[in-house]
Amino acid sequence: MMSSTSGKRSTRSPAWRFAVGCWVVSIVSSGANAAAESPGKLTETVELGRVLVEQTATHPLTRQYVGAALNCTSCHLENGTHPTAASFLDVATAYPAWAGREGRVITLEDRVLNCFMRSCNGIRPPQGSPPVVAMVAYITSLSEGRPIRMNAASPHGPRRVPPLGLDPATGDAAVGEKLYTQRCGDCHAADGNGTADGPPVWGPRSFNSGAGLSHVEHLAAWLKLAMPLDAADLTEREALDIAAYVNSHPRPDFVIEDHLPPAEEMGVYNGKR
Ligand code: HEC
Ligand code: HEC
Repeated sequence: MMSSTSGKRSTRSPAWRFAVGCWVVSIVSSGANAAAESPGKLTETVELGRVLVEQTATHPLTRQYVGAALNCTSCHLENGTHPTAASFLDVATAYPAWAGREGRVITLEDRVLNCFMRSCNGIRPPQGSPPVVAMVAYITSLSEGRPIRMNAASPHGPRRVPPLGLDPATGDAAVGEKLYTQRCGDCHAADGNGTADGPPVWGPRSFNSGAGLSHVEHLAAWLKLAMPLDAADLTEREALDIAAYVNSHPRPDFVIEDHLPPAEEMGVYNGKR
C-alpha cells in the first residue's frame, strides 16, 4: 500500500520539481529553490528506504552489511506495514528510547543498526550513511501524524509483539518437530536452511544468537502473529513448541566485536563542509 502511494508521488515529482525549480531560480534566491526541492528529495529517500527494507540482502547499498539470507521484511512483514508482526507502523513515535541491553538511550537509527548486526548477522553500517538515512526516513514515514511518545522503558513501539501467557521453559521441542514438519517445512525446509518459498530459520545463513528471535519466548510470540505466512493460526502452545524446536538448532554465534566496523567507519558526517 505504501508503494502505490509513493509510486504515484514519485512519477509526478520530477516534472513538478523541474517546473517549480526553474521558476524559483529565475525570481528568488537559491535558498528558496532548495526548499522547493526538498519535498521531492524526501519522497525519493523514503522510497529508497522502502526498497532497502525489502531487498536488504541483495541491494548494492546494503548487501555488504548483511550476513544472513534475510531482508528486514523477512521478519517485519510487508515492509513493516503488517499491523502486528514486528510492525514498523507508529514505531518512530517511541524514539529516542531507553534500551536496557545497551544501557543507554538509543535513537531509531541505533535500533536499525542493531538489527543489521544481530537479526541480519551482519556488520553495523556507518551512522549517517545514505542507506541508513533512507531506511530511517522510510520507517519514520510510517508514523507520520502520530503523537510522539518516547519510550522510557524499552526500545519498542506501541505495536510491539506482546509476550505470550506461557512459561517459555515449558516449550516441547519434540511436539514442535512434528508441527514444524506439518506447518513449516514445505517453505523453510526440513533442514531449516530455507527454500525458494521461505528464508532459512536456523543454520549459517540465519539470524545469529544476538537476535531477538533467538530467544524462544520472542520467537514464539512473533510466530503466533506471523506464521504460517498468510495463515497465522497457531495456538500459543503450538507457537511455543515450534519455537523451542526451531531454536534447538545451531545458528551463528554473536560476538559483538565481529559485527562492528573499524572505528573510522562507525559514523560519517553527511552534510556539506
Ligand atoms: C530475524 C528477524 C528480523 C530481521 C531480519 C530484522 N528484524 Fe528488526 N526486529 C525483529 C524483532 C523480533 C524485533 C522486536 C519487535 C517487537 O518486539 O515488537 C525487531 C525490532 C526492530 C525495530 C524496533 C521496533 C520497535 O517496536 O521499536 C526496528 C526499528 C527494526 N527492528 C528494524 C529492522 C531493520 C531496519 C532491519 C533490516 C536491516 C531489521 N529490523 C531486520 C526482528 C528482525
Ligand atoms: C507458505 C510458506 C511459509 C510457511 C508455511 C511458513 N513460512 Fe515462515 N516465512 C515465509 C516467508 C516467505 C518468510 C519471509 C517473509 C517475507 O519475505 O515476506 C517467512 C519468515 C519466517 C521467519 C523469519 C525469517 C527467518 O527465516 O528467520 C521465521 C522465523 C519463520 N518464517 C518461521 C516459520 C515457522 C516456524 C513456520 C511454521 C509454523 C512457518 N514459518 C511457516 C514462508 C512461510
